[in-house]
Amino acid sequence: MNGLFDTHCHILPGIDDGCETFAASLECARALVRAGYTRAFCTPHIWPNLAHFNRPDQVASYVDQLQRRLDDASVPLELFPGGELSMRPDWLEMTRPQIVTYNLKGRFCLFDIWIDEIPSCFEPCVRFLQNHGLTVILAHPERMRVTHLHPEVMDWFAEIGLLFQGNLQCFGDPDTAMTRQLAERFLREGRYFMLGSDTHNLRSFEIRLRGLARVRELADEATIRRLMMENPPKLVE
Ligand SMILES: [Fe+2]
Repeated sequence: MNGLFDTHCHILPGIDDGCETFAASLECARALVRAGYTRAFCTPHIWPNLAHFNRPDQVASYVDQLQRRLDDASVPLELFPGGELSMRPDWLEMTRPQIVTYNLKGRFCLFDIWIDEIPSCFEPCVRFLQNHGLTVILAHPERMRVTHLHPEVMDWFAEIGLLFQGNLQCFGDPDTAMTRQLAERFLREGRYFMLGSDTHNLRSFEIRLRGLARVRELADEATIRRLMMENPPKLVE
């Protein structure tokens, strides 16, 4: 299947814990193309400690630079800006232009959080983004300890309006792993809005490919098209 659209990857070089060099970014982009991807959102971690890199205009500039490198190397992957926000209580002090959104359009955003229990700031933070007109997408809920301990929390997440992005890597984890079991369960239950590779480097790419193969075993073609080809372009507009 060609024409896949990756909704989550860390291939901008030297920014976060993803690719470290342009050479590594090119290798990952080539690997994505071989796997069937033609488009990808670059979603670097938006961490407050990355002082040199946390504004939408900076993300756009980095994406332009990498796109030029891909074009020069004839790697047919079209890049779009985005970001993976890390939920923190001080979000509530952010102003609207500071929020990094998909394609910087101010309609959809992606966030992650690593928690055992739901913190008191969780719903206010989600509402803060929603009140700015954003549809809020939770990255890889199958990796969160709170869903391992309380899978039913997914119902509450959905009730407050969150959409979900599943990670291919989790579908490639050992079949005894909770991440894999929950990823397969959430896919079966139709909870995902989209899937993402969450590519960080070439070393961990193999497991993401295994995950993609597993998704192809589990899901029918219409579902795969919806999660990897039809819903992702909605984030561009
Ligand atoms: Fe990520």
